[in-house]
Amino acid sequence: MLRFLTAGESHGPELLAIVEGIPAGLALTEADLLPDLARRQVGFGVGPRMKSIEQDEAQIVAGVLAGVTIGAPIGLRIINRDHTKWKGQAVPPMSVPRPGHADLSAALKYGYRDLRFSLERASARETAARVAVGAVCRKLLAEFGMIVGSYVMEIGTASAELEDMDFNQRFEAAEKSEVRCPSKAGTEAMREEIRAAMQAKDTLGGVFEVVALNLPPGLGSHVHWDRRLGARVAAAMMSIHAMKGVEIGRGFRNARLRGTEVHDEFDSSDGRIRRQSNRAGGLEGGITTGDPLIVRVAMKPISTTLTPRASVDLASGQPAETRYERSDFCSVPRAAVVGEAMLCIVLAEVLLRKLGGDTLSEMKPRFDQLPLGRLDDFEMSNEPIIFWD
Ligand SMILES: Cc1cc2nc3c(=O)[nH]c(=O)nc-3n(C[C@H](O)[C@H](O)[C@H](O)COP(=O)(O)O)c2cc1C
Repeated sequence: MLRFLTAGESHGPELLAIVEGIPAGLALTEADLLPDLARRQVGFGVGPRMKSIEQDEAQIVAGVLAGVTIGAPIGLRIINRDHTKWKGQAVPPMSVPRPGHADLSAALKYGYRDLRFSLERASARETAARVAVGAVCRKLLAEFGMIVGSYVMEIGTASAELEDMDFNQRFEAAEKSEVRCPSKAGTEAMREEIRAAMQAKDTLGGVFEVVALNLPPGLGSHVHWDRRLGARVAAAMMSIHAMKGVEIGRGFRNARLRGTEVHDEFDSSDGRIRRQSNRAGGLEGGITTGDPLIVRVAMKPISTTLTPRASVDLASGQPAETRYERSDFCSVPRAAVVGEAMLCIVLAEVLLRKLGGDTLSEMKPRFDQLPLGRLDDFEMSNEPIIFWD
């Protein structure tokens, strides 16, 4: 129902995206895409490249007429502003693969003779295109009151304590923090952790949470492996460069507890069934419960380190040390914004699958009729039924 493709190399002229499946009638301008693109470019520990690119802008080149989507594929273009530095330049070949990158694995797979061929497409510069696509999907979700936000929980060994803040407070405070951490103490500790790693010529990873609010119950499905929403979300997060772990709700913490300590009990005292807690993180049976969808993602430390790593020069066959390419020291705050984009895309897809429709105006009344879990939404009786005759 909704799909997208991206194309483009890290230092090539531009990044491209095509999004298909957005219904007709959604108001959309290039200004809608700017805030998320800007949020992806900042954070303490970001290398010099983002500054040299300045503010990314996405051009809408197809699928929108007179400021409104027409149901046709939406074409997006993001110019790489630093491409001019590369155009026409002879670049010395790169023959020493860097551990933790696609340098070697992609060269072996595709038969490259220069590791830059690997680097150019493997680079997370591609995530700018995903963020633009995510911003389109965010606009669609907003039509139904849905909100997606993120914040950083851990960088290296520094962590944040956020139990006393609700999700909206966390989202708001994260925007004001250089490391996207909602708490002041957490921000300080994370900044210090990054500063120390930079001084030690090293890099860091961390953990962020992406949360979706105001979801209706019933998105996703239990009926097939690839329709379970947890599977879709995990795949989307794991598709982001350097993401190596995903939890829904308190996934790994719950695994260490007993059933009665984990599963969210029901309450129906006001005529609507609600869960008394949300340890499940908003999904049961691969379907949204209507509670916040909480996704926790682990990012490995940045692979490019100022400290040389042992490698081999593939041109000479001799042992060699890695050479430094300009790079972030920590990208967790930026990656959280990419995580938001991916969650927006997955949620827009399951929303479209649930509601169908070619136009926004067809979707809206269907959305308003979704059952919310009131006791009279259920048509159940006590009569025995013969299942298999
Ligand atoms: C937003 C973002 C920015 C990134 N920036 C860098 C970077 O500056 N330097 C680097 O070595 N890796 C960076 N990475 C991670 C690499 O792209 C990634 O580790 C590499 O392509 C290998 O893929 P893999 O880690 O998934 O195996 C970044 C990832 C994200 C999500």
